[in-house]
This record gives sequence, C-alpha cells and structure tokens, in this order.
Amino acid sequence: MNVHTRLVHPHDDREQHHGASSVPIYQTSTYHQSDPEHLGPYDYARSDNPTREALEQAIAGLEGGARGFAFASGMAATSSALLLFQPGDHIVAGRDLYGGTYRILTTVFHQWKLDVSFVDTTHPDLVRQAITPATRALFIETPANPLFSITDLRAMAALAREHNLLAIADNTFMSPYLQRPLELGFDLVLHSATKFLGGHSDLIAGLAVARDPALGRRLRSIQNAFGAILGPQDAWLVLRGIKTLGVRMEAQQRTANTVARWLATRPEVRRVLYPALPGHPGHDIHLGQADGGGAVLAFELADGPTAVAFLKRVRLPLVAVSLGGVESILSYPATMSHAALPRPERLSRGITDGLVRLSIGLEAEEDLMADLESALTGRTDSPPPKKRKTQHE
Ligand SMILES: Cc1ncc(COP(=O)(O)O)c(C=O)c1O
Repeated sequence: MNVHTRLVHPHDDREQHHGASSVPIYQTSTYHQSDPEHLGPYDYARSDNPTREALEQAIAGLEGGARGFAFASGMAATSSALLLFQPGDHIVAGRDLYGGTYRILTTVFHQWKLDVSFVDTTHPDLVRQAITPATRALFIETPANPLFSITDLRAMAALAREHNLLAIADNTFMSPYLQRPLELGFDLVLHSATKFLGGHSDLIAGLAVARDPALGRRLRSIQNAFGAILGPQDAWLVLRGIKTLGVRMEAQQRTANTVARWLATRPEVRRVLYPALPGHPGHDIHLGQADGGGAVLAFELADGPTAVAFLKRVRLPLVAVSLGGVESILSYPATMSHAALPRPERLSRGITDGLVRLSIGLEAEEDLMADLESALTGRTDSPPPKKRKTQHE
C-alpha cells in the first residue's frame, strides 16, 4: 500500500486494542501472572510494553525492516546499537556524524576500546582504505549535518557486503518517508525520533530498525539488558506524530525548496546548502536514493557578527538546538551543534562563523520569507514581542 495509507494504518490487528482508534497508553510497570509457572507474553515493562511495541512495529514497517526498537533518546538508540560491538573492534564512521555520536564514540566507547576512524564518506575510496581486519561496521549519516554532505548509500552497502561489515545509517534528517537505507542494502537504521518522526518538538525519543531477524534478536537482548527504553507516553506521542509524517514532510519540503532557491538569490547570502539545489555536491546521488531534499538547509552569511545579528532579529523561527518540528528552527553550528570542535578544525571543514542552519516548519512560506528578509536586511516592521515577566519582576 501507499506510504500515506501505511502511516495512518500501521497495524492490521484492530482487535488487539478493542478497536481503539489510537493505541492506548499502557502506563504500567508490570503485569499480573495468573499462572506463575508459565508467564504470559508481558511480564515486565522494561522488556515489553504494548504501546512501545506498537511504535516498534510501525517504524519497522516504514523502514522495511524485520524488527524495530524504541529508546529513550536518539543517543540511547545509537549507544545501544554500539553495544553490538566488542572491545578491540573497529568502526569506520562518517567525519560529519552528529556531534553526540562523535562524542560518545570518542569518550565512552573509546574507554570501552572500540576503535573508530572518522572518514569523509562522500569518497567511497577513503572508506575502503580505512577498513582494517578489525573493522566490523560502517556508520554513516546522509545528508550529514551541517553542510549536507552526501554519502552514496548503495556504494556503502556494497563495501559493507564485500568486507562482511554491518552497515549502519542514521536516517534522522530524511525520515523513512524520504529515504529507506535498508531497502538499499543497509543492516541497521537509527533515528532521533525527537525530530521529524515525533515532529512537534515536544519529546525526546530514539528508534532503531534491524533488517534481519538475527540482528533484531541481538538488539532486543541489548535493549532489554541495557534498559534505555522509551516510556509509554512518549511512545504514544511518536505514534501520533508518525500519522502525519507524510503531509508534514511534503509541506515542509515544499517550503524548503522555495526558501532555498530564494535565499540563493539574496545578496546577503554567500552560499546555500540544500541537497535538492542543482549544483549541490552529491545532488544526483542524493536524488537517486531519497525522494527529495528534505526540510532542512543551511546558508552562510558574511561572518559571525552578521549571523548573530540575524539570529537575534528573526521572529518566527525558534533559535534553538533541534530540527524537524512543525515550527521552523534556526540553529547556529558555531555555538550549538559544532561548539565542541576546535575552531580551526571547524573552519577547515567549512563550518564557518557565518553558517546558519534552518529547519523549515509548517508556517506559510510568505510569512517565513518576509521574516527572514527583514532579519537579513536589518529592517524590522513590527516592534519586538513583549518579554514575559518572570516571577522576580
Ligand atoms: C542526526 C542526529 N542523530 C542523533 C541525534 C541524537 O538524538 P537525541 O537528541 O534524540 O538523543 C540527533 C540530535 O540532534 C541528530 O541530529
């Protein structure tokens, strides 16, 4: 069935929850066992919860995998997946991976003696050269933040097959609505469901989907043992968010295309980074593996002070760490996502002080562009909103 239909009807068994239109929130920690010698399918809620299970089945269906898992955050999903490896194993990871993934690999899993090489995965040859006899996995993100660098998913899957490696993709920026790495040969997909899947900037959640049942069994045992599970209230919110994923992504992507093209004509903007713009590095590869450029883009202003002044002037987008919500969100890599990178290293990667990232929400495009234009030009047509009084005032 069409993905829009599957988003609204992710489960076929309506009777399981008494025909309820929305899967109930099973707010429980445990389950009475009428026969203590033969426990029922649900015995303790860290192991199984029907609300979480409904979300896990929904994401497995959308990504086309055998089994899905819901975790307390995107980082909990990533960390649990990294527990698949052992001390002494080696991973080839994308140089532009999400900063939190970089941090956990270089701190916690470094102590755990998991060895990592960070490589520019836009060049399959560099990935091939980084593979050693101890390599067990490739871990990539495409498009990668914040320059929207594109990695060829089919080429990575082929390399992984050739060297018997697990191919792992963080699919947060695209969501399964636009890109499904498992269909292109990947083994494991990870998500920060905090972003497009939840979609409303009101929860923190993570998801993982394994393509084959054997990997699913290993992850299931880690999820149960490590215990970084998603609670039933947030699982319900993600399930609700998923029902509108298709219409949100369509509308947000449409506006992103318009805004990216408009920004590219602005004299204040030095460059626009958006995978669907002709001329973007990896444009053809991206459109061969995803159904559009997505709803997040970046653009570069003259310098740091210009970017900061712009961020202080905008009214509609939140200026915040995150993306994928119904409201547009502007973030500033220099002090937010990439603050941990030493400045020379950040600049050498092209993440300049003038770079701003914009996650497009559901605002009308004319309102959004009018707001961005007045912030770019320094013209303000209306007085700034009144500051709310704090308790001390
Ligand atoms: C691409 C990507 N992966 C993983 C994460 C981590 O997710 P969470 O913040 O839900 O732990 C983020 C968060 O921004 C992200 O952008």
